Amino acid sequence: MKLPGNSTAGSLERPVFPPRVAAIHDLSCFGRCALAVVIPIMSRLGIQVCPLPTALLSSHLDGYRHIAIFDLSRQMTEIFQAWQQEGVEFDAIYSGFLADAGQVEIVSRFISLFKRSNTLVMVDPVLGDDGRYYSGFDQRMTEKMRQLLPLADIITPNYTEACFLLGEDYRLTGVDDTIIAGYLRRLAAMGPGRVVITGTPGPPGCLLNAAYDRLNGTYSQVSNPFIECRYPGTGDTYASVLLGCLLRGRDWEEALAAAGQFVLDAVKITWQSGGIRREGVLLETVLARPELWGVSQVVENNRGGDSAGSHDPIILRGRWGMVSSDLLADIKVGIGTIDRDHQEMAVFLARLERMVEIGQAAVNRQVIEETLSRLDWYVEQHFDREEQMMKDYGYPEAARHVAEHQFCRSKVRMFHRALAADSRDLAKTVLNFLRGWMIAHFLRSDKQLGEYVKACEQRYGTGE
Ligand SMILES: [Fe+2]
Ligand SMILES: [Fe+2]
Repeated sequence: MKLPGNSTAGSLERPVFPPRVAAIHDLSCFGRCALAVVIPIMSRLGIQVCPLPTALLSSHLDGYRHIAIFDLSRQMTEIFQAWQQEGVEFDAIYSGFLADAGQVEIVSRFISLFKRSNTLVMVDPVLGDDGRYYSGFDQRMTEKMRQLLPLADIITPNYTEACFLLGEDYRLTGVDDTIIAGYLRRLAAMGPGRVVITGTPGPPGCLLNAAYDRLNGTYSQVSNPFIECRYPGTGDTYASVLLGCLLRGRDWEEALAAAGQFVLDAVKITWQSGGIRREGVLLETVLARPELWGVSQVVENNRGGDSAGSHDPIILRGRWGMVSSDLLADIKVGIGTIDRDHQEMAVFLARLERMVEIGQAAVNRQVIEETLSRLDWYVEQHFDREEQMMKDYGYPEAARHVAEHQFCRSKVRMFHRALAADSRDLAKTVLNFLRGWMIAHFLRSDKQLGEYVKACEQRYGTGE
């Protein structure tokens, strides 16, 4: 591939080039979404982004009343024809928001002209959210968008878009893992080898990103704590981290986990900072925190066949972990007995995580037995302690909170049955569940309970 720049004339070092992606999205001049998040995120991951704007908007469509929109269909064609004449090539093509159904044809043409055998094509089939179409879109856009799926290697619809593409009713209850696995397989049968459905309904307190890799026949689920605020642009953020990590040599599972974790961090920071919802997540703050995102460790060495053996350190590795000083501070609810239990569980889980990572837990039944016995303690004594507190203080959200506890209790019973049946990889299964459920529960439900109890104590002067 002929690539520009980065000459190291006079040096013995091999020139290195970042992977290059054609990003076909809108440019919203205000509010963080589309190219306004794609470019900074991917640049930070060491990817060269070449924007092919589909539309120019004064702001994005979610939360603004006065919007100026300029359709760039004609300019898109002129830009890529110029690129073609210049012999520009791409490692990836990544499409998102398209202004209208006619632009699907333009993107199809672009892919057929620029896709090489090793070009990765990712399509985010932007159609709607929360069961509704975005303004200006309807069934016709869905039908058109389906035409892009056979051209894509990866697609990343949200749950609403997956329902639209499959012609399924949008519903939030009665959707279990089997149904989502069926959706993933059916979408993959429409063309792409890898499918991610973001934001599928999950267990109480969690949102799931469900993924399927048709070539390996593997399903993955990454659960994230549910924070009660939806920000525009998080789909673009997720897809950009996912593609960026893949282009930097991460494997599929790592890229999925990294993307989920990054969005979670961004949403959490924005929520805690009181960020204005319609302006999107505080991306600048997140990108400026290297301890949140180990991007600073990225080195320019994994492009091309002769770089084998010199891959990056694992991006975001640190954030896979349950326990960081950040998390330990975050989960404090301000009630001494509860905080002590939570810290103990968090440290215990970090230990389990390390053992799973180095492969010990897979072969060591004692580790799994110890884990389950610790969980027995957690669901019996710790939950009882919290539930008694809810009764003592007349906590109005008790029913929902106890339902989350019950869900965890039922999972722990299931893990015991799996242990009796000698299930393989049980430690990993337990860990994956706890990573999602426990953090979500600590950060949201237990924090709410803590706030309520502290307010009661202040009001009535009853201390612990
Ligand atoms: Fe709880
Ligand atoms: Fe708790």
